[in-house]
Amino acid sequence: MLTLGIETSCDETSVALLEGEKKLLSHLILSQMEHERFGGVVPELASRAHQKVLLPLVEQAFGEAKCKPEEIDLIGVTLGPGLIGSLLVGVCTAKTLALSLDKPLIGVNHVEAHLMANLLLDEPSQPPFVALLISGGHTLLVEVDCWGQYLILGRSRDDAVGESFDKAAKMLGLGYPGGPAIEKAAASGNPEAFAFPRPMIKDPSLDMSFSGLKTAVLYEVEDLKKAGGFTGVLADLAASFQAAAVEVLIEKSLSACARTSARTLVVAGGVARNKNLRENLTLRSDRAGIKVIFPPFNLCTDNAAMIARTALFHFRNGRKDSLDVRAYATGSLDWPTASF
Ligand code: KG4
Ligand code: ZN
Repeated sequence: MLTLGIETSCDETSVALLEGEKKLLSHLILSQMEHERFGGVVPELASRAHQKVLLPLVEQAFGEAKCKPEEIDLIGVTLGPGLIGSLLVGVCTAKTLALSLDKPLIGVNHVEAHLMANLLLDEPSQPPFVALLISGGHTLLVEVDCWGQYLILGRSRDDAVGESFDKAAKMLGLGYPGGPAIEKAAASGNPEAFAFPRPMIKDPSLDMSFSGLKTAVLYEVEDLKKAGGFTGVLADLAASFQAAAVEVLIEKSLSACARTSARTLVVAGGVARNKNLRENLTLRSDRAGIKVIFPPFNLCTDNAAMIARTALFHFRNGRKDSLDVRAYATGSLDWPTASF
């Protein structure tokens, strides 16, 4: 079974050829650099870049995998959520390939795909477990009783945690993408130098909030600017911000495991790359007797391998989408929410 995966929801153009459940014959990820000087993703530039590189990338993937388009059995493509112009490039391409090659098509939800990246690991996690899904667009705690069935235990009520890394980095002049930039700057800083808030950490719900943390950084930066600048304490600001965000994620994840009696915590999404989170969450989970699983770095951020794997999962469960499937910018996460 050979699945072609296509991902174009944001600023990564990615194509994968997945043989069976795990063997990646080719996995190409092209990160767009044109957004760097704007300090964030410019949607129109993203769509144009996808349009320019997607077909050559598909050709390159077939070349690397040494197989022909006619040999694929399935096409999986991200339908949403994401930037609509970018999504349309991937969806139109996937539909055209499906029609011309007469192959089945599955439209994939990007959020579920981040979770299903776990199925590409040598030893995928067996449900039940709790998943912490942390990306630029989502911050969710999810109870997974079996693959394909999800119960939302908690979510960010405002900014996603990745978004708060990106915004804080912009305030600190660290560029885009903010997550890796903050992590790098924080490495030489003191995480206790600034007492940034840990919003909702004591709240009995499993919901989170990150916009107050971002605003606290903004006020601190403004005060420091008035007093002569913040260059001397840049590393401390980054480290203190990172410590606050990481602490909220750890506390809420461990509370979610305690409430659901889960013994396994699966982390997914771009922010799962953060080494400070990886180290501290592993330490705290070990103490609590919880096994924590992180995907390898290239499967944390946006990639087409997770899209192909998710399409395969649904195809095997009997789904086959028509060519009428539509891209969506927001919504379509119809997972039920737990009432605590
Ligand atoms: O999953 P992803 O690639 O795209 C979305 O679906 O949003 O996640 C991107 C997010 C960005 O906000 C980026 O700043 C963040 O993941 N990120 C990180 C790190 N690497 C990427 N955040 C913290 N630390 C990192 N090392
Ligand atoms: Zn993503």
